Amino acid sequence: MDAARDIRNLALVGFMGTGKSTVGRQVARDLHFEFVDTDALIEDQAGVSIPEIFSQSGEEEFRRMERDVVAGLAQREKLVIATGGGLVADPANVEALRAHSLVVCLWANPETIWQRCRGQTHRPLLNDPDPQARIRELLDAREPYYRQADIIISTDIRPQREVVSQVTHQFRETGRGSQK
Ligand code: S3P
Repeated sequence: MDAARDIRNLALVGFMGTGKSTVGRQVARDLHFEFVDTDALIEDQAGVSIPEIFSQSGEEEFRRMERDVVAGLAQREKLVIATGGGLVADPANVEALRAHSLVVCLWANPETIWQRCRGQTHRPLLNDPDPQARIRELLDAREPYYRQADIIISTDIRPQREVVSQVTHQFRETGRGSQK
């Protein structure tokens, strides 16, 4: 691992529906870390929901808020950070996270993502006449960014508790995780 990095936190990146928040909450419990979610931090600051931010102010404004939230985490420690699915597409965010976090990507294939996200309405980017095509298109465009993570864990066929224990194990391997 790059010596310039000061790994104090764990960041989960990955597409919508890969389980970042659910897995992150459990990993935080196991590591005795605090759990934060960039989408929730944005909603707290804005006082409105993500779909409302998209419809009232547009995606560009949402991405600006996302960058601010990431920058605001730089001095924190003992956090598990679940990130919004598109956050990694801005290289400044990845650079900022890598400075203090082990970056773990949760991966899933388009079909798995569709099965997990269909019927949900809180993701404005999937509000599309052809959400399956949209998932494939976004995933293709973002794959190179997800691949910049330190570790990639496929969630397609693994039970969630196994994903949790793999993530926790990988973080402990850095020597930073509490052994409690
Ligand atoms: C987005 C993913 C969402 C949320 C926003 C945009 C994306 O987060 O940040 O709707 O660009 O993929 P989740 O990945 O937690 O659903």
